[in-house]
Amino acid sequence: MNLLIIGSGGREHALAWKLAQSPRVEKLYCAPSSDAISLLAERVDLNPVDFAGIARFCAAKAVDIVVVGPETPLAAGIADGLKKRGVPVFGPSQSGALLESSKSRAKEFMFRHGIPTAKSETFTKSAEAKRAVNSASLPVVIKADGLAAGKGVRVCAARGEALEAVEDFMVRRVFGQAGRKVLVEEFMTGREVSAMAFCDGTTCVPMPFARDHKRLLDLDKGPNTGGMGVYSPLPDVDATLAADIQTQVFDRFVKGIREEGIDYRGVIYAGLMITAAGPKVVEFNCRFGDPETQAVLPLLESDLAEIIAACVEGRLSPELVRVSHGACACVVLASAGYPELPESGKPVFGLDKLEGLRGVTAFHAGTKKTPPAWITSGGRVLAISAKGADLPDAVNRAYDAASRVRFEGMHYRRDIGKTL
Ligand code: AMP
Ligand code: GLY
Repeated sequence: MNLLIIGSGGREHALAWKLAQSPRVEKLYCAPSSDAISLLAERVDLNPVDFAGIARFCAAKAVDIVVVGPETPLAAGIADGLKKRGVPVFGPSQSGALLESSKSRAKEFMFRHGIPTAKSETFTKSAEAKRAVNSASLPVVIKADGLAAGKGVRVCAARGEALEAVEDFMVRRVFGQAGRKVLVEEFMTGREVSAMAFCDGTTCVPMPFARDHKRLLDLDKGPNTGGMGVYSPLPDVDATLAADIQTQVFDRFVKGIREEGIDYRGVIYAGLMITAAGPKVVEFNCRFGDPETQAVLPLLESDLAEIIAACVEGRLSPELVRVSHGACACVVLASAGYPELPESGKPVFGLDKLEGLRGVTAFHAGTKKTPPAWITSGGRVLAISAKGADLPDAVNRAYDAASRVRFEGMHYRRDIGKTL
């Protein structure tokens, strides 16, 4: 099988790492790729939204499936654009990607199909959104409808803050068109769970549950980031809760996409809040999570290429998704100034010291190779992932490995997987 991965981040590095282990994969390509990914997959210079160009490449190189990492090309319709040119895609159609690219469409889908979620109202006029804020109970959550690089959600404890969010999103348009519509949403409390499942359009098979740590600093302090660390599986998700997540979220999701004729072959990621009333969906993503993937794929015993082929061909079954015992923890090493103004160009030392460590992998999110050295090139530089016999063992191994790496200004959270 020949595969082309679309993307260039830590998630795609993990996908390339896992797919490169598959005996079924003859040739692996990646676009736009990164220096680290190019050690595992041949780098190709393709624009992720030039569907005709990608299709020509796939025809010339006999690529069997295109595996899409990020949401932007999915929201732009890469799956439809390639499929109509005869190229199978792992990643949903544009109508499926709308569940991530439009929060109001996702809400309507959830309401239609009885998927538990917070109460929410959508507004296209700022005066009406403000009126809703003025009568809402606090805290209240204000969300820009469209994609805003993870920054379009504000949890507001004070009414003034919520009114300011409406003003920012709808009037000042700080996220452009993404703020054309705004959601005023009920605040939920509970623990968050990242629930990812493979989907072939008629079946959802879950991956191990994971927990992301979005805040920059220990004890969930500081600003939101793209994710500072993850662990998986979750000791607080027992078999009963897992069964509820399957029946109330994934089974209803599948029923919904089938009824609405949405072609969805890829990953459905449900960001959940485990409330006193059970699991509720905070958001859907139409792709693998980043950095969840860097902690979940090391636990996947099965051949990922085989699962991807099964999704694309509509023959996914639970037996195909085998998971190993133990746990995995992943610690993100970030640059000075992240998330506002990250420094770059700093030499990275110590990656060679990780090579002999069993179960440890350094997934690169923001590095460049300037032979013979690696240098930093982004805010989140590396995700150091470690498997262990159990969660404490995985966490110790990840931190032991992280302590061997250094670059100027490097910082990371010390409490990943420790605040259970
Ligand atoms: P999102 O970008 O949709 O993942 O939202 C970012 C974060 O905002 C989530 O991970 C939650 O921590 C928080 N959040 C979003 N919606 C709600 C809600 N209705 N109640 C409580 N927290 C929320
Ligand atoms: N880790 C959150 C996300 O991938 O959106």
